[in-house]
Amino acid sequence: MTDQGERYDRMAEGYERWWAPVLAPSAVALLDRIEAAIAHGAGELIDIGVGTGNLTFPALRRWRDVRITGVDASREMLQAAEAIAARSPAHERDRFRGQVAYAAELPFENATFDVAMSSFVLQLVPSRAKALREIRRVLRSGGTLAYVTWLTDRTPFAPDRAFDALLAEFGFENEEGDGRSGDLPSVATAAAELRRAGFRDVVAEGAALEYAFTVESYIAFLVEFDEASTFEEMSRSERHRFLARLREDLMRLPADALAFRAPIVYASGRHSGR
Ligand SMILES: C[S@@+](CC[C@H](N)C(=O)[O-])C[C@H]1O[C@@H](n2cnc3c(N)ncnc32)[C@H](O)[C@@H]1O
Repeated sequence: MTDQGERYDRMAEGYERWWAPVLAPSAVALLDRIEAAIAHGAGELIDIGVGTGNLTFPALRRWRDVRITGVDASREMLQAAEAIAARSPAHERDRFRGQVAYAAELPFENATFDVAMSSFVLQLVPSRAKALREIRRVLRSGGTLAYVTWLTDRTPFAPDRAFDALLAEFGFENEEGDGRSGDLPSVATAAAELRRAGFRDVVAEGAALEYAFTVESYIAFLVEFDEASTFEEMSRSERHRFLARLREDLMRLPADALAFRAPIVYASGRHSGR
């Protein structure tokens, strides 16, 4: 299993509660880029890195005839998606199946799917070029790939800076990182990578993801998802002192400092048939 698979295995619950809602509106907007393919009869879809189903479940509700295969490197994330499917109406859950698999090693025959979609995953794969070629392999000729992910962003987010400063003050090193080394450097790069991997009719456009954290939702996001392992290292009393100070520091920030805004890219193309 890759580090990313293990990382998400540890945090599936916190992900579903605190991070999936941040990504959800931007993920759902990707479905508009797939609408034309569905209107032309696409029925077999694959969701690469399905996670807790930010794309899959809205797609199953929106298009009543599609079947979706959700693959993910993390078994725990997939189980979270399957649990959501189990709570969904039969006409939705019966059209979903999940499978543990890496984006670059998809256990499917050539030309199995009409559409491949992916949200906030292709920044995590060890080689995006390899993953894109593999996705193309499982698409039928003329099939569509549409994805959304992060663009590189060096704009500091004030709550992250407050958290990092406090970690340093308490003598912790923030060494884990989030593994997002593969954020796209530009919209043009997203388009060029798709063309190189054998896609045509390529469209790539930039957008912004916005989310209004509150002090409490930001703290929960850190404790239960993004920095869970750092908090596990703290003793109970240390954690108590740390969180009290963090809350104070966050409350001192101007109200709009908790509004998270980051650049993203939507990219799509069609299997060139060659
Ligand atoms: C940020 S989450 C996005 C999940 C979902 N698509 C969404 O929009 O909420 C990234 C997901 O990609 C999965 N992942 C990471 N590396 C992967 C890989 N190489 N192949 C397949 N899935 C991967 C993780 O386990 C996680 O579920």
